[in-house]
Amino acid sequence: MALERTLILVKPDGVQRRLIGRIVSRIEDKGLSIVGMKMLQVTPELSKQHYAEHVAKSFYKELEAFITSGPVVAMVVEGPEAITVMRTLMGKTNARESAPGTIRGDLGASRQMNLIHGSDGPDAAAKEIATYFRSEEIVSAPDALTAHLWAKEEE
Ligand code: RTP
Ligand code: MG
Repeated sequence: MALERTLILVKPDGVQRRLIGRIVSRIEDKGLSIVGMKMLQVTPELSKQHYAEHVAKSFYKELEAFITSGPVVAMVVEGPEAITVMRTLMGKTNARESAPGTIRGDLGASRQMNLIHGSDGPDAAAKEIATYFRSEEIVSAPDALTAHLWAKEEE
């Protein structure tokens, strides 16, 4: 197992719907650590960089309009297997198909306006964290609580 970091966004629909706090709470309730956090406006250029794998797809134009439609909250989230843990916590891409108990499954009903982004693998996580955060914006403090959240060998 490995201590991982993943890039999470509360997308513009989550911000507009005043769900920032509830989404952040779900991440904290799971015991993951937030080691970087800021609000920003995604530009068309940043959208093309972030969603490079989707730029040529038919839904990209709408996706860019959506993700640039208002501020997002970007976070670096850390924990054992944080990338997979967050993808599971988020639920399936299409919120209509996301299981109850997941963030998307509980809070949304759209394929596009699905509230939250999470990196889909270690390479994407490294690239996306470097895109959104300078290294000095990531602050990893000594954390006494982790001794009660997971075993050392799980890091
Ligand atoms: P994300 O990258 O935002 O975390 O979402 P994801 O991995 O679950 O889904 P992905 O396939 O990477 O799609 C990126 C975002 O594009 C929108 N989308 N629209 N109209 C469509 O067919 C369609 N498919 C995806 C969603 O906002 C999705 O989160
Ligand atoms: Mg994706």
